[in-house]
Amino acid sequence: MDQIQFSGVKKSYRSGQTAVDNLSFQVEKGEIYTLLGPSGCGKTTTLRLLAGFEKPDGGQISIAGNVMAGAGYWVPPEKRGVGMVFQNYALFPHLDVARNVAFGLRNSPPCVRAGRAREFIDLVGLSGFEKRFPHELSGGQQQRVALARALCPEPLVILLDEPFSNLDADLRETMRGELKKIIRSTGATAVLVTHDQKDALAISDRIMVMQRGSIQQQGDPRSIYLSPANQFVAAFIGKSNIITGRLSANCRFIETDIGEIPINPPHLKGKNGAFRLSIRPEGFELADDGPITGRINTVNYLGSEQECLIDVPPDTRESTRLLVRVGPGMDLSPGDLVRMKVLPCLVAVIDKKTP
Ligand SMILES: Nc1ncnc2c1ncn2[C@@H]1O[C@H](COP(=O)(O)OP(=O)(O)OP(=O)(O)O)[C@@H](O)[C@H]1O
Ligand SMILES: [Mg+2]
Repeated sequence: MDQIQFSGVKKSYRSGQTAVDNLSFQVEKGEIYTLLGPSGCGKTTTLRLLAGFEKPDGGQISIAGNVMAGAGYWVPPEKRGVGMVFQNYALFPHLDVARNVAFGLRNSPPCVRAGRAREFIDLVGLSGFEKRFPHELSGGQQQRVALARALCPEPLVILLDEPFSNLDADLRETMRGELKKIIRSTGATAVLVTHDQKDALAISDRIMVMQRGSIQQQGDPRSIYLSPANQFVAAFIGKSNIITGRLSANCRFIETDIGEIPINPPHLKGKNGAFRLSIRPEGFELADDGPITGRINTVNYLGSEQECLIDVPPDTRESTRLLVRVGPGMDLSPGDLVRMKVLPCLVAVIDKKTP
């Protein structure tokens, strides 16, 4: 069953800024759902509408089948069964870890409160830290306290706004895995906000890519990466080469300026006109028998990989400059002539261009 339902939700601020524009989506029970998009696209506003910190101008929001906002209903934040982890964690500086975590249980008897807080402190791996104050904790530890505090009242839905933004790169990677494990173990439905594609790809069951308050694409991480719906998604999630071409007579290739590009599956049968393709940088493979020839313009050695700019076809003014990702072992230099083939699973037709 859908745990969260947004139907045609609209929100504009007094400035006239439309933050959320006719947004409709559902999140299933127990799912980890991520809102991903550039700064200002309406991610935090969507979370705040869900938590009840903002009222929609139109549309309807339901949680667990009950209307929270819209159609004449309004349920205040504290009655929604929603826990929120704010971007800056917002821990109470004058309360120790145990009392921060127990805060959401103010109405329970003290013995229940202490026991439950201990359970969630243990769940986030902070047993032994109960008496510490927020300023005596690292960023990652503070994040875990905020998470335990939000989970302790056992909400139906947990909302996390940029939960990794204050963490350094190593801690960020560790916390991605931990957060996923903790959310799963509580069975809560989670909606997470990030502008970092790696966080989104690593942690989510499904991702919604947003731009200017509306949905560009929804899907699981693999389909979002492998089959971006349009140029915005292709460029925002990872890097991509955008190339225009036409369907071959046998419908198995797109004929482009860089040669024939295999498409998989050949789903464009019967369509005419020009198409735009997204080819991921790792969708090219350097191979002596490859049908595409190019000349390396630039090599950027990054350790785990190297990013090359390659002009195809070589030595003409009309060449297309491709971004190609190559493994770290190959000895490549600007000026080298290389041959490549294309891996069809990393090619996506992103739209049909009018002829
Ligand atoms: N309280 C407010 N008053 C007026 N405009 C606002 C308010 N809050 C947000 N906005 C505007 O609404 C739009 C969406 O803002 P929102 O905070 O939802 O973006 P976001 O996707 O979370 O961005 P970021 O990644 O920078 O946090 C922005 O253009 C922002 O300027
Ligand atoms: Mg935000």
